[in-house]
Amino acid sequence: MTTEAHKLDATAKEVLKTNDKGTYTIPTSGLYPYQWNWDSAFAAMGFAQYDVDRAWTELDTLISGQWDNGMVPHILFHTIDAGYFPGPDVWGGTGPIPSSGISQPPIAATMARMVFDKDPAMGARRFAPLYDKFVAWHQWFMDWRLDKGAVCITHPWEAGRDNAPDWDGAMARLDPVGVGDYTRRDTSHVDGDMRPTKHDYDRYVWLVQQGNRLKWDEAALLQQNPFRVADPTMTFTLLRAQRDLKAMGESLGRDTSVLDKHIRTLEAGAVTLWNDALGSYDSRDAKTGEWANSISNASFLCWYGGIDEPRMLDALELVMSKVSYGVPSFNPMDPKFDSKRYWRGPVWAVMNMLISKGMNEMGIKQGEQIRQSTVDLITEQGFAEYYDPCDGTPAGGHTFTWTAAIWLGWASPSARV
Ligand code: SER
Repeated sequence: MTTEAHKLDATAKEVLKTNDKGTYTIPTSGLYPYQWNWDSAFAAMGFAQYDVDRAWTELDTLISGQWDNGMVPHILFHTIDAGYFPGPDVWGGTGPIPSSGISQPPIAATMARMVFDKDPAMGARRFAPLYDKFVAWHQWFMDWRLDKGAVCITHPWEAGRDNAPDWDGAMARLDPVGVGDYTRRDTSHVDGDMRPTKHDYDRYVWLVQQGNRLKWDEAALLQQNPFRVADPTMTFTLLRAQRDLKAMGESLGRDTSVLDKHIRTLEAGAVTLWNDALGSYDSRDAKTGEWANSISNASFLCWYGGIDEPRMLDALELVMSKVSYGVPSFNPMDPKFDSKRYWRGPVWAVMNMLISKGMNEMGIKQGEQIRQSTVDLITEQGFAEYYDPCDGTPAGGHTFTWTAAIWLGWASPSARV
C-alpha cells in the first residue's frame, strides 16, 4: 500500500472521529447535524474496518428510532441544532425519538451483513436482537410503498436523491399552497448553486407539512399524498437488503420464507421500471404512469439488486464516456444535466460503491473502473459530499462521513485485504 493510501486511511478515520457523537455519526457538522439513515449505515461499514463493536452501536442507535409501524426514519433528531431546517417541530414525527416521518433507501441490512462478516461470532450476538426489527422495517415498505411490486417514494428526500430530475414531473404537479414563510439553512452552509432550487424546496416543505397534518398515518397518506413515484433506488436497495437479511436470518437459524416471497415480488416490481424507449431502468410516476425518462446513477443499481441486465452496461459505458469521473447522478447528454447541482449531475462515492459492488459480485469488469474513478476523486479532492463529474471539483459539504466510510470500507487498498 502506498504512503498516500496510508495517509488517506488515517484522514478518513479522523473524519469519522470528528463526526462521531458517541453512539451515532452525523454526515457533517453544519449542513447535516443529525443522524441520517443511510449515511449512518455507511458509517457502520467504515467503522467496521477498525472497530466492529462501534459499527454495531451505530446500527443499534439507528434502529432505536423505529416507529411502532416498523418504519425507520430518515433523520433522528437526537440533539436539537437550530442550524438545520426543517427540524423536529416541522416534521412532527411520532416515534420514540424525535424524527422525520419518512424513511430512506434501506441499505442498512446490506451494511449490517458487511459488518457481520467482519466478525461472525460478534455478528451473531449483535444482530440477533435486530433481526426482527429489520424484518418489520422491510415489511413496512412492502405494506405501504409498493406499486406493481416496485417501491415508491412519497417525498423526494425518501429516495435520498432529493432533486433528481426523476421527480420533476410529479413535483410540477404539486401546488404548495399555504406553505408559508420559512428560512432555508442549507444555503447558509454551502453554495446555493450546489443545492435544490426554491421551486423544489417549497414542495419539500409542503409535503412535510402535509405528513405532519395527517400525523404520518400511512393509510391517510396513501389516499391524500399527491406525490408517489416508483423509484429504482428504493426498489433495488430493498431487493438487495431482503437478500442480505435472508442470509443473516439463515445463519441465525430463523425462518426466512416471508423474505423469499418479498424477493419474488420485488423482482417482478423491478421489471416494471424498465423503460424500453429509454433503454434503461427509470422512475415511474405511480399516479399518472408517466416515465421520468431519467438515466440516473440509481438506474445502475440493478446489479446490486441481483439483476444482470446487459443493456444497462451499454447505457453505463455511454454515460461514463461523457464525463471524466463516473458515475454521474444524471445522464450528461440530457439538457437537464447540471454538473454541480446535487443529484442532477454530480458523482457520489456512495452510489459508486453500490453500483460497483453489484457489478463485481457478478463478475462484470467495469465495476473495477468505477472503483478506480472513486479512488482518483478521493485522492485528488478529499472527502467531499459529492463531486463535479466533469472536472472533479468537490461540492456540497466537506469532511463527509459517508465518503470517508466508502474509502475505508471499499475504495482504500486496505479494504481489499
Ligand atoms: N437531504 C435533505 C437535506 O438536504 C434531507 O434529507 O436536508
